[in-house]
Amino acid sequence: MKLIRDSALCLLHLLLLAEPVVRSSARPAHRSPLCGMFRPMIHHVDSLLTLSHELHALTGEELENFEAAEHRLDGLLHIEHTFAHFSSLEVNQSLSKLLLYTRAFRLHADWLMKAKENVSLSSRSAEGASDHLLQLSNLLNASLHQMGAEAPQPPPPSLPVVSRAFDVLRFSVEISERLQVFCNWSKRALVRLQRRSCPRG
Ligand SMILES: *[C@@H]1O[C@H](CO)[C@@H](O)[C@H](O)[C@H]1NC(C)=O
Ligand SMILES: *[C@@H]1O[C@H](CO)[C@@H](O)[C@H](O)[C@H]1NC(C)=O
Ligand SMILES: *[C@@H]1O[C@H](CO)[C@@H](O)[C@H](O)[C@H]1NC(C)=O
Ligand SMILES: *[C@@H]1O[C@H](CO)[C@@H](O)[C@H](O)[C@H]1NC(C)=O
Repeated sequence: MKLIRDSALCLLHLLLLAEPVVRSSARPAHRSPLCGMFRPMIHHVDSLLTLSHELHALTGEELENFEAAEHRLDGLLHIEHTFAHFSSLEVNQSLSKLLLYTRAFRLHADWLMKAKENVSLSSRSAEGASDHLLQLSNLLNASLHQMGAEAPQPPPPSLPVVSRAFDVLRFSVEISERLQVFCNWSKRALVRLQRRSCPRG
């Protein structure tokens, strides 16, 4: 009995000794200070994806009439092409691109909000999207500053004056689709960056 108790104590002792070693190997010393930022960023992207579906209240069938419409918002045109080579970018370059698009989308969301108000459509979802885009860009901006990298501003987009509810709806559909693509890519990019910069994080 005493032998068992002794060896149990001994084992406990060994475990206590070993614990700091286990802890320190689980947390690499070079764990990036950005690690705490990725989770809230991904949260905002998830919320944005949900809101992007609510930017218009069209049914699937109604939507088909709009989908053939050409894309007209030049400020959002070339995202897919840029994201295609995303995995080859450095962390600072990836975050910098994400910030650029986040800010561009925010300018469009704010514009859509006003356009909707002008034709008496509910602007609640556009306002919600704008809010999440602002918070996402604040996190990206803070991360880039922490890395000593530049935080880019997109050039001001030239956005049309719209006066018909039908046109506002078309732009809502376009922004909704673009935002979904953006969220899709951003989420993947952020998850990949998180894995790469924050092992076990
Ligand atoms: C970006 O972050 C820096 C450093 O935290 C801050 O001084 C600056 O005001 C931020 N810019 C914007 C547009 O939020
Ligand atoms: C990103 O960091 C690398 C070095 O780590 C640097 O050479 C490059 O200029 C940086 N790029 C940006 C956009 O800050
Ligand atoms: C909303 O209406 C105001 C006043 O007529 C106009 O100046 C503004 O450009 C309109 N906004 C949009 C996005 O069309
Ligand atoms: C998002 O990505 C998934 C997986 O790659 C794809 O199946 C889906 O069609 C994408 N959605 C949009 C809106 O791009």
